[in-house]
Amino acid sequence: MEDYIKSIMKEARVFYPPKSFSNKAHIKNIKEYERLYKQSIKNPEKFWAEQAKQLEWFKKWDTVLRNEKNFFKWFEGGKLNVCYNCLDKNIKSGKKEKIALIWEPESGKGKTYTYGQLLKEVCKFANALKKKGVKKGKVVQIYLAMIPELLISMLACARLGAIHSVVFSGFSADSLKDRILDSKSEFLITSDGSFRNGKVCPIKDNADAAIKACPSIKSIIVVKRTNNKIKMKKNRDYWFHELIENEKDFCKAEHMDSEDPLFILYTSGSTGKPKGVLHTQAGYLLYAQQTFKYIFDIRDDDIYFCTADIGWITGHSYIVYGPLANSATTIMYEGAPMYPKPDRFWNIVDKYKVTIFYTAPTAIRALAKEGDKWPNKSNLSSLRLLGTVGEPINPEAWLWYYKVIGKEKCPIVDTWWQTETGGILITPLPGAIPLKPGSATKPFFGIVADIFKENGSKAKVNEGGYLVIKKPWPGMLRTVWNNPKKYKKTYFEKFNVYLTGDSAKIDEDGYFWIMGRLDDVIKVSGHRMGTAEIESSLVSHKSVAEAAVVPFPHKIKGQAIYAFVILKKGNQKSESLKEELKKHVGKTVGPIAKPDKIQFADDLPKTRSGKIMRRMLKAIAEGSSEFGNVSTLADPEVIKKLQEERIL
Ligand code: WT7
Repeated sequence: MEDYIKSIMKEARVFYPPKSFSNKAHIKNIKEYERLYKQSIKNPEKFWAEQAKQLEWFKKWDTVLRNEKNFFKWFEGGKLNVCYNCLDKNIKSGKKEKIALIWEPESGKGKTYTYGQLLKEVCKFANALKKKGVKKGKVVQIYLAMIPELLISMLACARLGAIHSVVFSGFSADSLKDRILDSKSEFLITSDGSFRNGKVCPIKDNADAAIKACPSIKSIIVVKRTNNKIKMKKNRDYWFHELIENEKDFCKAEHMDSEDPLFILYTSGSTGKPKGVLHTQAGYLLYAQQTFKYIFDIRDDDIYFCTADIGWITGHSYIVYGPLANSATTIMYEGAPMYPKPDRFWNIVDKYKVTIFYTAPTAIRALAKEGDKWPNKSNLSSLRLLGTVGEPINPEAWLWYYKVIGKEKCPIVDTWWQTETGGILITPLPGAIPLKPGSATKPFFGIVADIFKENGSKAKVNEGGYLVIKKPWPGMLRTVWNNPKKYKKTYFEKFNVYLTGDSAKIDEDGYFWIMGRLDDVIKVSGHRMGTAEIESSLVSHKSVAEAAVVPFPHKIKGQAIYAFVILKKGNQKSESLKEELKKHVGKTVGPIAKPDKIQFADDLPKTRSGKIMRRMLKAIAEGSSEFGNVSTLADPEVIKKLQEERIL
């Protein structure tokens, strides 16, 4: 393996798609990609208007694109319904009996829904929601694990024109509370519990704790999943199954304006408060539909499995909306990758004859570590295409995925995108674009990506800089919920074009190499965490005076969390206090935010004006002594001490 990697590094080996794959692909070779790409960016409005004909509209749009000082409006004047496009439209075109959703519970006894059945379930629940007062423009908070009712709830909201806001079920009560307070939703959908690693997680208890501080919530709808004991408050809490019991299985789809909100999804940025990223109807759906079609090269007989949680954007766009808008069969897995054994994903591939498999580099690294014997127990021959998302993939993990899972016959689409972008922006098209392990390759149709230097000029070939997107695309966020100023400042202030927050370079073949975040965002196992969020959790502990959080490289997680903590006077530095602080972060933010390492410090490196110099802390955490310019440092001695006491 080692030699293989070295040779690749030396030769910069390129992997071509197998002929048999390209021959049948939507886009068959690089020439075809380049021709279509050129067309698409020469006149993006014309290009997207042409593609938009693939959706079903109740009324055609008047204008394709309007720019109101960097607030973009797509397909104004048009009317459509996202749920209708994901279900009714497919049924009308003969897909009523096709399986839309395969649900694999952690316990293993799966359940399927045809498009026809799914429509009925969605309509029943939409009718029930309507009776509770859910309607166009209302925000519905959804706090559910990976069960069919999650997808059904989202589609029911879309059908009524309500705005869903899904909160990852692994988040704590506090995180849920913050999101409800920001979105001011009146409705919460949750369950009596959820299964993870064979254990029951008490998510209704979290919900109860969260809403104590959320007066906006009027009704809570509870799915029965685990049968554990929970409290149900009269005239506030209702069982999902009781509400839908006598509901009709048809509900009219609301006619929505193209730019009506579809959903809010909170994500971490450089401040302590998560941002509510807003996506709207037509543009988002079109972008999810188109990217899913071309990037996953979807065909009618494919069985598609994305391992993400729907609590993140990957699940929104590529478990729910993208696949269903293409009348695909999508798999939803309830549980953990290692449950009961590290071959669970491969088992699912074998069981359902999965043809397309999409996961995160962190999962690949974790599963590779368990050894080849696990994938080798399953028959993976149904696979024809693999994908990754969420963070850069190292060549070693890429090669393992390519050889051991894909048996050197499946292209790998390394898809770069963000919660804000709605869908994939930089990616190989699997039948057309030769692969270089570690590169997300080229921009998707209509995407004008570039690298800028600090002064806004274009970076040279292979020169690193700010990754920017120079023209709007239909799937982009429209604003930050309740905070348009933040939208402008975060994404458009610096260069007056969309700023991604990532650094990247473009090589001599026009391939993009994503290098990481430039802001205070950490990618832990592909999950996006703001350093400020973790810091504010730490300082909320009674013993902590000050905290600074930085990433350090981690073999499996990609990045992990290193926290420097200054204690308040009178507190003893102890291992047990470190454990307590880790637990505290786990409880207030969520288990994924727990620091891996905590170093107690007496002082932190600061500028004379008092600003913490994070790049130095990052260097210390990494064990590097390249601190860059130290001339602005108030007290250089601080660094020496921190270095000596670094946690290995
Ligand atoms: C950040 C966005 C998009 C769905 C999941 C993540 C990093 C994402 C890649 C990739 C290198 C990647 C970037 C980006 N990222 N995909 N293929 N290669 N880095 O969404 O939580 O909004 O995070 O994830 O740093 O900015 P997100």
